Amino acid sequence: MQIQIAKQNAFDSDVDFLIVANFEDQNTSDFQTADTHLQGALLQKVTKLKFKSKAKDTLCIDTLGKIKAQSLLVLGLGKSDQYSDLVLRDVCAVAIREAYKQKANHVGFLLPSLPKNSTRELSAGVLLGLYQFNQFMSKDAENPRHEISQITFFENGFTIDQNLVNQGQIIADSVNVARELVNEPANVCTPTRLADLSKSFEAQPNVQVTVWGREKIVSEGMGGLIAVSQGATEEPKFIHIAYTPKNSRGRLVFVGKGLTFDSGGLSIKPAKGMEEMFIDMGGAAAVIAAMRAIVHLQLDIEVHGLVGACENMPDGNSYRPSDILKMYNGKTVEVLNTDAEGRLVLADVLHYGTKLNPDGMVDLATLTGACMVALGTNYCGLFSDQDAWADTVLKASKEAGEKAWRLPLDEELGSTIKSKRADITNLGGPWGGASTAALFLKHFKGNTTWCHLDIAGPTHVSKENGYICDGGTGFGVLTLIKLAETFSKA
Ligand code: BES
Ligand code: ZN
Ligand code: ZN
Repeated sequence: MQIQIAKQNAFDSDVDFLIVANFEDQNTSDFQTADTHLQGALLQKVTKLKFKSKAKDTLCIDTLGKIKAQSLLVLGLGKSDQYSDLVLRDVCAVAIREAYKQKANHVGFLLPSLPKNSTRELSAGVLLGLYQFNQFMSKDAENPRHEISQITFFENGFTIDQNLVNQGQIIADSVNVARELVNEPANVCTPTRLADLSKSFEAQPNVQVTVWGREKIVSEGMGGLIAVSQGATEEPKFIHIAYTPKNSRGRLVFVGKGLTFDSGGLSIKPAKGMEEMFIDMGGAAAVIAAMRAIVHLQLDIEVHGLVGACENMPDGNSYRPSDILKMYNGKTVEVLNTDAEGRLVLADVLHYGTKLNPDGMVDLATLTGACMVALGTNYCGLFSDQDAWADTVLKASKEAGEKAWRLPLDEELGSTIKSKRADITNLGGPWGGASTAALFLKHFKGNTTWCHLDIAGPTHVSKENGYICDGGTGFGVLTLIKLAETFSKA
């Protein structure tokens, strides 16, 4: 999508759908100009419908030839003193979705003067709002899918920085890559697909991508990843995307759970609900997509994106409840439930991460239903044994507008994963399932500064809300980019 910046007067430009933003507590001058052009009809309609310009509220009016654009959309920004980058991103997404529903072709945005850094959220919001998962929808020749052809931001007494618009585009495109990967079914989004996409990042400067297949994973001794994947025909992949810029201000490691399908294995899931388990690579999608953004932005920070990708399937060759696994770091694990597979895969990838000796490591995983029960689908759970690092990641998530809530890594729960036959088991007691999963991971992070995000809830949602779309959300990408940027600017 080509986004243009134009200096001309929006009211005689050739957009066919003009979006005019307005505050709840004071009408913007653009709103007033629009009303003058429409000879008072706008204010009349707003009053009649008691339209308050609350954030994300919209009101569409036919201009009946009084201005060039056929439709004018009043876009609520909410109260002026609560206006922020994140509000802007949400309202832009809502507005473009409304324009799409109205079959707009060339859409114009007329917004009040913004703080310079808000500009990124302009293009990000629009492109996040435009996202649709439609690659498997056949196109009907008689009734082709509608597409918005052009978007123009009007500079109205202030300058819109093209560079920041471009950055917003990189970020939104990357979130949309994660959304697409999550939405793709498991017969399409395989470990090989994740590896091939990662490999393509090598076209950018300072990137090297290493992919291990089954043979190498076995010879390296990643016992968790091997066990989980051994019931599947689909080949497992361990993926390492290394971004090593010349001027680096630190080193980060991001780890993603990449279960392209989780049937539960021999501890098979009930039929109802299993069909959702194609989203079990949401962590991997977030890591790969964040790496895409970081690489395109060429941030001044070394970042390693690591993914353990495989399928968890029942088969004559599957790993069994009761198996004892030797993990990549040498610890042994007694398998009590083959559906607690994510932690086994992550354990090996986390250990690989520790060997890179990072300043900080973050893993993202659709790890437990328990975390969803605790927090719902808006928040991810955050676990760390280092308060300063937990706070750094929480701050990044807050600035990125992705909700995270810290949950306890309660050492007293640690006894629930003790094993009589091996070092630990992969299954905790009946309560605190999100915490016991995190406590399991802690056995594999060594001395590394580490934080675990359980994103089972927000990875895939049923309802759109502002910039968040329904289906795969790309949750986590924005937090990881923000985290890398805080280092890059430090
Ligand atoms: N992939 C699931 C967790 C999950 C559930 C993700 C719902 C997204 C939505 C994970 O591998 C799993 O099966 N976890 C089990 C763990 C249990 C066996 C200890 C769970 O949460 O029930
Ligand atoms: Zn599972
Ligand atoms: Zn899983």
